[in-house]
Amino acid sequence: MRAQGAYELGATHAFLELPGFAAGFSTHLKLEGLNPTGSIKLKVARAMVERAEADGVLPPGSRLIESTSGNLGIALASVCAAKGHQLSVITDPNANEHSIRFMRALGAEVTVVTEQDANGGFLQTRLRLLHRLLAEDPALVWLNQYTNPANPGAHRDGTAAEIFQGFGEPDWLFVGTGTSGTLMGCVEYVRRAGASTRVVAVDTLGSVTFGGPPGRRWIPGLGSSRRPEIYCDDGSFDKVLVEERDTVLMCRHVARTYGLLLGGSTGTVLAGLRAMRGAVEPGSTVLAIAPDLGDRYLDTVYDDDWVLARFGATDPAALLDIETTGAQV
Ligand SMILES: Cc1ncc(COP(=O)(O)O)c(C=O)c1O
Repeated sequence: MRAQGAYELGATHAFLELPGFAAGFSTHLKLEGLNPTGSIKLKVARAMVERAEADGVLPPGSRLIESTSGNLGIALASVCAAKGHQLSVITDPNANEHSIRFMRALGAEVTVVTEQDANGGFLQTRLRLLHRLLAEDPALVWLNQYTNPANPGAHRDGTAAEIFQGFGEPDWLFVGTGTSGTLMGCVEYVRRAGASTRVVAVDTLGSVTFGGPPGRRWIPGLGSSRRPEIYCDDGSFDKVLVEERDTVLMCRHVARTYGLLLGGSTGTVLAGLRAMRGAVEPGSTVLAIAPDLGDRYLDTVYDDDWVLARFGATDPAALLDIETTGAQV
């Protein structure tokens, strides 16, 4: 009998309204944290592995390597365990201890690089090590989520299809930008469906994806210190940059107001939505994708000392500041 893997449950249809989040229109979340590995990345891991298996690149018992700030590593570790492949993960200090332990519990080997790259992030350092290991061992396979068409494909056929079939056509769709796989997949789905949904890409200030200057970022998930190869700005979507301080305040605001512990990138997406709310027509239906939940961020976003040391404020009441922040690019 074929082994069943947790990854086979990777399709969530959980939508939650945030009543009163913004005046004049309804705001909803698509909760991807309910996937068995806790994030939206399960769809990407499954799609990339199954594509490579179908292409003959991953015979049984293959060894894979990936650079990830956490969620893809956990998802790949799950898929690899269930399919009998081995996985080495290269991550950085922005990944939390819980994620690293989660990957190791699923049988992955995890290396944490500590040297910052010239852009202030860790991506280049991670990639340097990855290329060295690939050169040393030709049997290693790198599926590379930054270039792999199965990444946006998983969101076109999964995430976006689930939205249009399970929720209906939203007037506005807010999507965070890390590798940009979710964004590109949703943009392609909307274009193919001929839908009038306005897609808004939200990223963190300090990320270079939208063309801005690099800067120090603390919260994993969104942003990149190098523009992802799969990212393509075809002019069909809006772009908003959010400061991490506003991400943190938004997460804490939602926790206290709705009793919902969101992941950092969802706080960013909601802060971007809040910044754009003046452009949303009254009566609209607005959907934001929530890539994970907040339990992985208890030692960072939800820890007063961590927040105070980096952003100088912990009080969600300071959220009022968001009225003036969150810049459309
Ligand atoms: C928590 C979280 N937020 C946002 C993203 C960004 O998604 P994408 O890489 O599709 O742009 C990811 C992807 O890993 C994530 O795990």
